[in-house]
Amino acid sequence: MPNTSSGSEEVHETFSKIPTHVAVIMDGNGRWAKSRGLPRLAGHKAGTENLRRIIRACVRYSIPYLTIYAFSTENWGRPTDEVQGLMQIMEDVIDHELEELNAEGVQIRHIGRLERMAPSLQEKVLRSVELTRNNTRLTLCIAWNYGGRDEIVCAIQRIIAEGIRPEDVDAELVSRHMFTAGLPDPDLVIRTSGEMRISNFLIWQTAYAEWYVTPTYWPDFDESELLKALRSYDQRDRRFGKLSETGCIANPTDEHE
Ligand code: FPP
Repeated sequence: MPNTSSGSEEVHETFSKIPTHVAVIMDGNGRWAKSRGLPRLAGHKAGTENLRRIIRACVRYSIPYLTIYAFSTENWGRPTDEVQGLMQIMEDVIDHELEELNAEGVQIRHIGRLERMAPSLQEKVLRSVELTRNNTRLTLCIAWNYGGRDEIVCAIQRIIAEGIRPEDVDAELVSRHMFTAGLPDPDLVIRTSGEMRISNFLIWQTAYAEWYVTPTYWPDFDESELLKALRSYDQRDRRFGKLSETGCIANPTDEHE
């Protein structure tokens, strides 16, 4: 499937398959900063700069959905100055980047709880989602005050509150009650900085996602690193518990694998 160039920069590489939905655990900002003798917030700022590069690269490679794990329900446990700094970064990003993201056709979605954020940030998040709701080039889903278990608890509460009968609950109905309702499940999860764990990220939606873990810290995860992840994904044989991606036996000699 050839990629089409959607910006001024050419896309030179083609893949047999491109993930529809890439989800990223942007880890390693703190270690990136520490390795340079900088405060942790400098790492988060460098990570935010990098996010801009990766959003552009996703647009160029025609990846329609990008979800980023930016602030977890557990991140409230960090020192107050780091939490406040991250909240300020989020407000600054919306203040300074929203217009351009909107002009580039990026639709912003938020997953997580708006509660507990400052009213000014809640208002900005809602405004970003509302302003960009009809954009179709790339859906940027920002997990902010997000936790996978919290999302499942929230879905169960809503299912019960709606009076849905137990026999009517199935996986599709649960998906429709998650924060991610309407989004396809991630095909590829990228985790930077080498840790091999899920950290309460999209634990329902990643049941069949492919994983790519790299030791590279998030601020250094540039377009060439993204390409490595896409190449790795291109080589994967996704079987979804069946014998081949389509559910048929592609090659009879594969039958015993
Ligand atoms: C993990 O690195 C990163 C975070 C908890 C925050 C990620 C946030 C951003 C990149 C910026 C904000 C994004 C938006 C959408 C405005 P870490 O601090 O855990 O790194 P460490 O494991 O090396 O300490």
